[in-house]
Amino acid sequence: MIVLAVASQKGGVGKTTLALNLAFAFANRGRRTLLVDTDPQGGIGHSLVGRPKDASGLAEVLDGRARLEDVILTTRLDTLRILTVGHPPWSQIASWGTKMAEEDGLPRLLRDAARSADIVIVDTPSGFMGPTYGVLSAATHVITPVQTEPLSIRTVPQLLEVIASLRQAGKSVSLTAVVLSMAQLREELSLSVAQEAWGLFPGDLVLEAHVPRDPLFLTASAKGVPLGLLRKRPPAAAAAFDNIVTELEPRLGLIEEATDDDAVALVD
Ligand SMILES: Nc1ncnc2c1ncn2[C@@H]1O[C@H](COP(=O)(O)OP(=O)(O)OP(=O)(O)O)[C@@H](O)[C@H]1O
Ligand SMILES: [Mg+2]
Repeated sequence: MIVLAVASQKGGVGKTTLALNLAFAFANRGRRTLLVDTDPQGGIGHSLVGRPKDASGLAEVLDGRARLEDVILTTRLDTLRILTVGHPPWSQIASWGTKMAEEDGLPRLLRDAARSADIVIVDTPSGFMGPTYGVLSAATHVITPVQTEPLSIRTVPQLLEVIASLRQAGKSVSLTAVVLSMAQLREELSLSVAQEAWGLFPGDLVLEAHVPRDPLFLTASAKGVPLGLLRKRPPAAAAAFDNIVTELEPRLGLIEEATDDDAVALVD
């Protein structure tokens, strides 16, 4: 079972963008992928073109008004399915968030859903309360986007603390990767933040692949599509997610870690 949570303490850092594009990239590789939106704001659902506005989703499944298999959306890729957040009860949003964190709420639903997928990717609201806490307690892996600007890297230790406390409580979640988002590595400031991140964290926690800053992300999100579907020939930035998948696959146990870096002979 692989449940990959996309989480960060800070808002607006590119979680939803990462979750949607990563799900598309995994599915494009033939992995049976389920993308789940747990953000009451409904970042993923808002943007999906052609989806009826009153469609049910996670909220309705959790309060027993709908069945999971009836509300999961299929997509143009056989391998990609999406569970939108549905309609959370805004008048009781605080207690709804708390309920989402309870063991028989969101965590159980995610574990059930993971049985029929190679990977479940979960978009979360910023911060670590309510729904995010529920997601982290069911997740096996976490990826956190860090906006490539000064000070943003400093919020990662807070995520590490939450993960450590969950592990102490017997959960098996771990921080799998930090990914730099909205990066402009040709600019000195952005590059110095990236260098700080690469130096600050142990081993290869910070991925080599990063999400570049590109206005096309705004166009893609306005049109409700992953960058790879923005036009027939995908923009260059879409390749970032394929590179991220390449780095993630061995960490998630989907393929074996390469044991050496020797070149493979072209001709025997
Ligand atoms: N690499 C990028 N280049 C340019 N714009 C981006 C990039 N990534 C995200 N954006 C834009 O930045 C805004 C915030 O991104 P996104 O919604 O993915 O962040 P988030 O972390 O999910 O936010 P929230 O905490 O509100 O859920 C969106 O308008 C999105 O289109
Ligand atoms: Mg979001």
